[in-house]
Amino acid sequence: MRKTILITGGAGYIGSLLVNVLLLNNFKIIVMDKLIYGGESLLNVWHHPNFRFYKIDITEPDKVESVFKENKIDAVVHLAAIVGDPACAKQPELAKKINEAGSINLLDISIKNNVERFIFASTCSNYGKMSNQNSFIDENSPLSPVSLYAELKVKFENILINSNSQNDNFCPTALRFATVYGISPRVRFDLTVNEFTKELALGRELEVFGEQFWRPYCHVYDFSRAILLVLNAEKERVSHNVFNVGATNENYTKLMIVEEIKKRLPEAKVKYIHKTEDPRDYRVSFEKIRNEVGFEITRKVPDGIAEVIELINDKVLLNPDDPKYKNI
Ligand SMILES: NC(=O)c1ccc[n+]([C@@H]2O[C@H](COP(=O)([O-])OP(=O)(O)OC[C@H]3O[C@@H](n4cnc5c(N)ncnc54)[C@H](O)[C@@H]3O)[C@@H](O)[C@H]2O)c1
Repeated sequence: MRKTILITGGAGYIGSLLVNVLLLNNFKIIVMDKLIYGGESLLNVWHHPNFRFYKIDITEPDKVESVFKENKIDAVVHLAAIVGDPACAKQPELAKKINEAGSINLLDISIKNNVERFIFASTCSNYGKMSNQNSFIDENSPLSPVSLYAELKVKFENILINSNSQNDNFCPTALRFATVYGISPRVRFDLTVNEFTKELALGRELEVFGEQFWRPYCHVYDFSRAILLVLNAEKERVSHNVFNVGATNENYTKLMIVEEIKKRLPEAKVKYIHKTEDPRDYRVSFEKIRNEVGFEITRKVPDGIAEVIELINDKVLLNPDDPKYKNI
């Protein structure tokens, strides 16, 4: 029988593409979103027979519960959040209310209603800084969040992974996403690859702070594929488990990203502002999800760069500087 998946934050950057991928894979999709950035990203699926939308804030338990009463939900993919360090720093109380209290509320209601799987979008920012410059961080490395955003992700991950249900089959999984790039129905230009490429494709000079610091990157489409794989995985492999999502050979410094962009935009003007410290400097290993779930990426950073250049050159967006393409 067709499974029903509830996606919170389904109108967002990652969620709006995930909705399409899961509909194509014959799931029934319910999106719960309060539409902070609008809901245009969902218009292409609005009339799909297996799609249903609820404009609900996850911090309102009665409303959330009513969705579970109206629908038999098999799995929850929890993406709704105040996303990113700057957005959480700007609205700390709201971030705590949504990312911590709202998430706990959603988890309790999911367990009470016998949901089988619960997948949480966490982040590799949880790791903070590499202790050894030559090593790769993996799921067993210590967590050292350096922002409220990451602190709240770590807190909820712990609650989720230690959660128990009457239902022995309850299968919670935390996915620590690398920094995302690429195009989805809700475009974001406040993420490194997308932002750098957009600015340079528009012919502007780019200022890069701390060009030597490492981060892992992953295409937004590959996140949908990772979530699909985890939804379909044998429970023993993913239950009460944490996976980094990305690819080990897709760790880059900001300098390396600029060099990739310059291969396509050789005239690009870049000013480097040297920084000696970046609290988030890490190279991450993604071998666990590859070995245990069989996840392989299909796109790399240069593919994302090409995508953004095409979007800008073809003027697909009337105003790429519109604040709606940023989370702050
Ligand atoms: N984009 C990245 O690089 C990245 C990296 C790691 C993890 N993540 C995580 O993935 C998830 C999705 O990120 P995104 O980039 O798609 O963000 P996004 O900001 O584009 O989407 C978040 C969505 O959640 C909704 N939302 C926020 N608060 C809500 C609430 N109280 N009730 C209902 N809906 C609410 C917003 O309206 C928005 O549509 C987040 O949990 C984020 O922390 C993202």
